[in-house]
Amino acid sequence: MRMYDLIEKKKRGGALSREEIHQMISGFVSGEIPDYQMAAMLMAICFQGMNPEETAYLTEEMADSGDRADLSAIPGVKADKHSTGGVGDKTTLIAGPIAASCGVRVAKMSGRGLGHTGGTLDKLESIPGFQTSVSRERFFEIVRQTGIAVIGQTGNMVPADKKLYALRDVTATVDSIPLIASSIMSKKLAAGSDCIVLDVKTGSGAFMKTLEDSLALAREMVDIGTRAGRRCCALITDMDVPLGHAIGNALEVKEAVEVLQGRGPEDLTQVSLQLAACMLFLAGKGSREACLAQAEKALEDGSGLRTLAAMTEAQGGDAGCIREPERLGQAPYCREVRALKSGWIVHMDAEACGIASMILGAGRARKEDTVDPLAGMILKRKYGEYVQAGDVLAKLHSSDPSRFPEAEAKTAAAFVIGTEQPPQRKLIYALVSDAGIDRF
Ligand code: URA
Repeated sequence: MRMYDLIEKKKRGGALSREEIHQMISGFVSGEIPDYQMAAMLMAICFQGMNPEETAYLTEEMADSGDRADLSAIPGVKADKHSTGGVGDKTTLIAGPIAASCGVRVAKMSGRGLGHTGGTLDKLESIPGFQTSVSRERFFEIVRQTGIAVIGQTGNMVPADKKLYALRDVTATVDSIPLIASSIMSKKLAAGSDCIVLDVKTGSGAFMKTLEDSLALAREMVDIGTRAGRRCCALITDMDVPLGHAIGNALEVKEAVEVLQGRGPEDLTQVSLQLAACMLFLAGKGSREACLAQAEKALEDGSGLRTLAAMTEAQGGDAGCIREPERLGQAPYCREVRALKSGWIVHMDAEACGIASMILGAGRARKEDTVDPLAGMILKRKYGEYVQAGDVLAKLHSSDPSRFPEAEAKTAAAFVIGTEQPPQRKLIYALVSDAGIDRF
């Protein structure tokens, strides 16, 4: 096999065989295939696409490029949950403990935030003492003990994705559905769970800005998971508006605790319950209705909250911060952003809210940046509300006051105020499973 011939084949719209994809991925990871040839292939894939078999082969080859987690030492059905990335998205901290408290095992490997989106590891590390790096044995022990553990990626998992993603990032080849689907699903397959629930975000703060693109990505990922023998489904959820009110690490942990105490924002509560119900359904815990009822009960009776506290303690964190989230602390400086005129909030730029939070210190512009656990913002008003000129729209938090001017301007511009009451937005647009698409 010559890489030149494979590039030529894909450029003309041909389908690559499993063997050809195997040679290409192993050659690229070993360094035999240079970046310039892989870059040409990635661009050919962007233009010509891949059929479902090719995408599934590519995903398996990527998953096989390094270590795969073997979770068989943990008894019971293991369910994973993945979000394509959003602003204020702290659903893992809610849906994970709820599902675990209903008897599903959640052995989760999460990532860090980059750009305008947050990452679960950064949120958990805002709890004093919380360890996201533990040995494999300890990880399994915590899942057996509490039902859930959330750690960073261990070992040498999916090196093909690390190399490919770095190349896509600098060659304008990120936005290809087969490449995104194979990148995400190779990590999910390598992480080893039996069931995979995908939360595909759609809207201004999401990777996929349109519903049609979000549906296409969800279908592709569910197809890959199903072909690989995993139980898999995707919810398409709104990210045109940030989820909940809190953006930023400790602020989001506090809000997740409020949801688990039954007094959190409605949008965040509903999406988290639906995700937890999907995890339970895939794990065989009953009908969709019965699984939703179990998730609601775990919220009402406090068992989800107790599970989050138990996981926190087992991972070295101060579980007192879960019982009394004020103990997480408060940034030393705050500023309020106020409405300049009266009217309805007709649009919110969720991505701009995420970028403003990043500027305040809550996120990273580059991978090497460090985060300020207390930085971020609380949205006081959201899409669809009527505001008077001078009302507070958001409260910004930071440990570095020099960051306020830029973040204030970005936040103010994220709110569009108009004269007409805007239509209500949907929170969940569709459920995608191997049976097809159910639109809500
Ligand atoms: N997230 C990933 O992990 N991979 C992509 O290609 C895009 C988003």
